[in-house]
Amino acid sequence: MKKTAIISGVCGQDGSYLSEFLLSKGYKVIGLKRRTSLITTDRIDHLYDNEDFILEYHDLNDSSSTWRLISKYKPDEIYNLAAQSHVRVSFDVPEDTVNGISMGTLHILEAIRALVPDCKFYQASSSEMYGDAPCPETGYTEESRMTPASPYACAKLFAHNLVRNYRVAYNMHASSGILFNHESPRRGETFVTRKITLAAARIKLGLQDKLSLGNLSSYRDWGFAGDYAKAMWLMLQQDKADEYVISTGHTYTVKHFLHEVFDIAGLDPEKYVEIDDRLFRPHEVPYLLGDSSKAKEVLGWEPETSFKDLAKMMYDSDYKFILDTEK
Ligand code: GDD
Repeated sequence: MKKTAIISGVCGQDGSYLSEFLLSKGYKVIGLKRRTSLITTDRIDHLYDNEDFILEYHDLNDSSSTWRLISKYKPDEIYNLAAQSHVRVSFDVPEDTVNGISMGTLHILEAIRALVPDCKFYQASSSEMYGDAPCPETGYTEESRMTPASPYACAKLFAHNLVRNYRVAYNMHASSGILFNHESPRRGETFVTRKITLAAARIKLGLQDKLSLGNLSSYRDWGFAGDYAKAMWLMLQQDKADEYVISTGHTYTVKHFLHEVFDIAGLDPEKYVEIDDRLFRPHEVPYLLGDSSKAKEVLGWEPETSFKDLAKMMYDSDYKFILDTEK
């Protein structure tokens, strides 16, 4: 009998990689999508022909849709990836961001408790939860202090704590993956890595002459989203639910990523990059480095893609994309 998994936020980068991964493992996948006027299914369009892939409308702020879908499909596993996930934007629309992440997670946990108590649950927690807390030399662990620095991160920490609470209070199989930044050719265009690789490709092809960026000095631990989808699944295959840091264990500045990509493109960033104060955040997370020793030991998980390979994969993909669509 096929296992059934529900993925909220299926149209996002992580939702698309996780869908592919679960379908390859023989799952029936129910992808939950928010209604928008623009088409946002480009990352999952190639999955439509698969009869085990079903798309349903859902909204984190609409608990009736959560209850109805969980009751309809009685899933074995639920992956809660949906969120307004842009940190800078969360300062502009804090209520929408916080409601969706915190109440959206609560609705799913309550529906599981009432309708499918044996269902396993994955929560997309975030390295943003550490905020500006002091980082140990070897990186943040599951036990490190968390002082979130944005409405987005505050809501993620609330949901993270809620998941732990439900795990202990109701003995639910509810796990959290504290994922550090993870990127890919499918990354949204407003996140800094994709903004840089797209701009480099357009500049190379003579279609753009400036790239505006904000803070270049923050450090991020950047991995490949495809590697991280497997870690989510591994967490739900364990006898015991738990929390895991998922990261590469290497950290680089935004400036370093910029130079890496422009080097690959054979471009001098000094000629094209301008700093725009509007892109700075009211409260920045200055330094993120993760220590995934626990994930390695318990899940047998390790990242497979290096920083350099990630930058090249993203630039090459965008170069081809721009050549095919804009040139
Ligand atoms: N987005 C963006 N745009 N960021 C910029 C820019 C710019 O033009 N210029 C500099 N930055 C800096 C930001 O200030 C931040 O320090 C860093 O680049 C990374 O920004 P993002 O790519 O937007 O990612 P993030 O680190 O804020 O958050 C991402 O990773 C989290 C995991 O740690 C998001 O995917 C979150 O949803 C996720 O939880």
